[in-house]
Amino acid sequence: MQRTIVYVSTHTFATKQAAAVIAAIVAPAERRNASLGVTGALIATENHFAQLIEGPDAVIATLMQSIGRDPRHRDVLVVQDGGSDRRRFSEWSLAYQGKSAYFETFVRPLVAPGPVRPADVDRLVDLLTRLAAPVARPLLRDIGAP
Ligand SMILES: Cc1cc2nc3c(=O)[nH]c(=O)nc-3n(C[C@H](O)[C@H](O)[C@H](O)COP(=O)(O)O)c2cc1C
Repeated sequence: MQRTIVYVSTHTFATKQAAAVIAAIVAPAERRNASLGVTGALIATENHFAQLIEGPDAVIATLMQSIGRDPRHRDVLVVQDGGSDRRRFSEWSLAYQGKSAYFETFVRPLVAPGPVRPADVDRLVDLLTRLAAPVARPLLRDIGAP
């Protein structure tokens, strides 16, 4: 059984540390996720993370426990958790890291107090899917580049 989890969380480190902290998260996560069969995407805005992970149910459960107790973020809020019969992502990647106020608008409604609105979750998942989509390779292949 495949499982998909989407969560949002808040950084616990200073903005000036972001590049180093996020690099230290991403490099091992890329290796570990590839070996576990986990795919998905992570975005890091100025203050928040949003991540989708998908993979075998038991693997996602264990990974989510690790992520939940990681001191590099707090207020980890799962906004979607469900079974799925197909993968939406071909690999796991850091899809965005930066201070874009626009990307923050996808995360902010979900970290704000109050009920999670499914439409906001769908909007975030759509953003993650679009950012992580491997567009360049097929295009290059189509025009005969190596
Ligand atoms: C925002 C965020 C996202 C993370 N995503 C992943 C991930 O996708 N895969 C992964 O192996 N570790 C990820 N980590 C790191 C885990 O929290 C944890 O450090 C790592 O899995 C080792 O866990 P362990 O100490 O329980 O063995 C993430 C950490 C943070 C703060």
